[in-house]
Amino acid sequence: MTLNAAALDRRLAAFPRLGLAQLPTPLQPLRNLSAHLGGPDIWVKRDDLTGLGLGGNKLRKIDYVLKAAIDAGADCVVSGGVVQSNSQRQVAAVCAKMGLPCHLAVFHGRVASKSDRYSNSGNALLNTLFGAIKHDVSWDADPNGAMARIADELRADGHNPAILPYGISNALGAIGYSSLCAELAHQCDDEALSPNAIVFASGSGGTHAGLALGANIALPGTAVIGFDIDGEPERVRHDVERIAVEAAEMLDWSFDRSIIDLRAGMAGTGYGQPHPSCLNALRLAGRLEGLILDPTYSAKSLAGLIDLIKAGEYGSGDTVIFVHTGGDAALFAYMPEQLFGA
Ligand SMILES: Cc1ncc(COP(=O)(O)O)c(C=O)c1O
Repeated sequence: MTLNAAALDRRLAAFPRLGLAQLPTPLQPLRNLSAHLGGPDIWVKRDDLTGLGLGGNKLRKIDYVLKAAIDAGADCVVSGGVVQSNSQRQVAAVCAKMGLPCHLAVFHGRVASKSDRYSNSGNALLNTLFGAIKHDVSWDADPNGAMARIADELRADGHNPAILPYGISNALGAIGYSSLCAELAHQCDDEALSPNAIVFASGSGGTHAGLALGANIALPGTAVIGFDIDGEPERVRHDVERIAVEAAEMLDWSFDRSIIDLRAGMAGTGYGQPHPSCLNALRLAGRLEGLILDPTYSAKSLAGLIDLIKAGEYGSGDTVIFVHTGGDAALFAYMPEQLFGA
């Protein structure tokens, strides 16, 4: 397959970035898991290894979005997410590195917190370690509203805050995330791979938008399949399309929306709630590959892939790229009995 990585590289070069994400992330075969499942060859794109502050998918987005804000004169940052948000943790780590005050709206109540561990460990602990200033707020349907209010207060005090939206999911963030496809296209060339599909967890939509757009340019013919982990497939699909279309305009690319493929059914009873096939995927990755997944995002997306294989959508002779979007820190916010049974 001739992959068009150069076309995407050229377009991305027009957008400056901070360069804090450690790139390219490795592309590794999951031979034991592939043999166990008896289906396609599964490779993992290790976006959990983007480096700073334990890494994850948001660093690619922050690299571009915060660079633009700093160039526009920002002197502090406002962002927000749930108690165990990986996004917040990466924002907090970047702010520490850049010497920028970091204000986080911490949304309580989206996941019924069953333990002190959920409230204080994992990402919550790291946010404190990275020196973020936390603003506790109740979860509502408009997370960006709470950030706007914090930013207003900062402006009233003479600051110029950069607002990094929920999930860092805006058009520039998606452009940042599309860089994964340029890397992947080069890596597939090196490994002589022709991927049939890329699979991953989709939530606030920027990751999916970036991958759909990036694949449309650099990996034509590869299916891009996001698994809704929010339990809100209509909202997620709408956000992916909106962000991808806006990002495509910025990249001067005529985007084929038909490639947006958002699958429902992997959220289980809701965001952050593990379910049996999610836990099965989490344990399989650990025991067969020494690969750490988390029960909110990456394990649910691997569970989605396992379902596709069981349904015969991908099988022997196919190649599927599993994008590990990170989230390992959140694993430690769960009690062992939630993950492995009593
Ligand atoms: C580990 C992990 N995977 C996937 C996602 C989903 O990315 P997006 O919000 O861009 O859809 C997130 C978002 O927080 C995440 O933390």
